[in-house]
Amino acid sequence: MSIHTPKIEKKVTLATIAKMKGIEPITMVTAYDALFAQLFDGEVEMILVGDSLNMSFLGKEDTLSATMDQMIYHTQAVCNGAKLPFIVLDMPFGSYTTPEIAVQNATRVYQETNAQAVKIEGGKEKAHIVKALTQNAIAVLGHIGLMPQFLRSDGGYKIRGKDQADIEALVEDAKTLEAAGVFAIVVEGVKSEAAEAITKAVSVPTIGIGAGNTTDGQVLVWSDMFGFFEAFKPKFVKQYCDGAKYVREGLETYRNEVKAREFPSEEYTY
Ligand code: KIV
Repeated sequence: MSIHTPKIEKKVTLATIAKMKGIEPITMVTAYDALFAQLFDGEVEMILVGDSLNMSFLGKEDTLSATMDQMIYHTQAVCNGAKLPFIVLDMPFGSYTTPEIAVQNATRVYQETNAQAVKIEGGKEKAHIVKALTQNAIAVLGHIGLMPQFLRSDGGYKIRGKDQADIEALVEDAKTLEAAGVFAIVVEGVKSEAAEAITKAVSVPTIGIGAGNTTDGQVLVWSDMFGFFEAFKPKFVKQYCDGAKYVREGLETYRNEVKAREFPSEEYTY
């Protein structure tokens, strides 16, 4: 049974998110433009301008060709639309290969947008990047488990945490990222036992996607959860409304009315 929760009325900060661990589940969705970000304002604690926009908005097969310029452009739009959520820009593939490149690109994020943090994919092998960013006053959201930017090198999207050794590896990744300074960690595409072990092992919040119900928060891609992305539907996606159906119905009515010269009627005419 779901409960009725009040709207969020104050700006969400790093402190708000830290305090929620183990107390109240954190809600996060992706957004890519001002129009939808405005709708999400006050409804969720966090917005991720995900590089998933490369697939759901640009129609590409994976996230790998998203660029820093695109991520900044979409984050500016989201920041124009939403004032209360904590907004995170997803650093695209290739934008944090060395500490110097990462700091240079993430500095652009703070200078050119109002995003409060950046997200990077990777476990303990990315700890030195997280350290370089946090030492340069940039807040970092980690991302472990199934990492879409590793699609080609991993040979596909692989669910993680299927055995004890992999659960231990994921826990080690999470602890190393915490020590390097991340303020929270996205845990994607892992067995729920693994997500639970990670969540218990770190003092920063974990935000799950396809990771079961034991993480400190949940994130979904908005076009998946509202039924607009029809190319495929992973098992973890719950569709909260059938957006594509509403749009098609609306368009059909519009087409019929225009063809029949019913629109615009008197009411819509000067
Ligand atoms: O790009 C994205 O939308 C993401 C989420 C799936 C966490 O990284």
